[in-house]
Amino acid sequence: MIKKINLGVLISGSGNTLQNFLDQIEQGKLNAAIQVAISGKPNAAGLDKARKHGIPTSVVSYSNHSDIDAFSQAITNELDKYPIDLITFAGFMHLYKIPDKYKGRVMNIHPGLIPAFCGHNYYGRKVHESVINYGAKVSGCTVHFADNVYDNGPIIIQRTVPVLDDDTPNSLAARVFQEECEAYPEAIRLFAAGRLKIEGRKVRILKP
Ligand code: GAR
Repeated sequence: MIKKINLGVLISGSGNTLQNFLDQIEQGKLNAAIQVAISGKPNAAGLDKARKHGIPTSVVSYSNHSDIDAFSQAITNELDKYPIDLITFAGFMHLYKIPDKYKGRVMNIHPGLIPAFCGHNYYGRKVHESVINYGAKVSGCTVHFADNVYDNGPIIIQRTVPVLDDDTPNSLAARVFQEECEAYPEAIRLFAAGRLKIEGRKVRILKP
């Protein structure tokens, strides 16, 4: 029996990914406890979603800190109040400089196929717009271990979707998000089961 995994969830916006975690936990598909939801923005709608489920919330506003180091330290201070096994970025827009103690224990999801259409400022709708305007025929999502560079760390799971001729950023986002809702919990379950082995840039998924 794999033990329940304790998550710290970092958000910046509407909290759709956080909501997916909450739904999957409630449905018994994800054996996890969200210890805290931390937002980089004070008015993130995702904060209400967390509060509705009795999850402690905290705001660490990027604009209240002098630089990325001070901001990251403030986030670490909040995380340190809880027993966290894994930190998950869920639509988190900022860089978080990961302290040694959390290295290899931070995940991100990106709504595109890394290394395309990713990096600083490639966020949400902008990714889907870029994919459509470029004429790409496939898109998808990527769950990866985060490091101190945007969308850079070792890839855990990618799922693809077709890009259709009449797609809008919204229709493509919805198709990709369906895959995100499967891929992220799956990556968390694999981590909780001790089945993810980082070897340089590669993540090996160990057999159960
Ligand atoms: C998700 O689609 C996620 O892939 C994307 O933000 C959405 C969740 O935000 N993340 C990024 O674009 C990171 N580069 P939300 O929960 O606020 O809707």
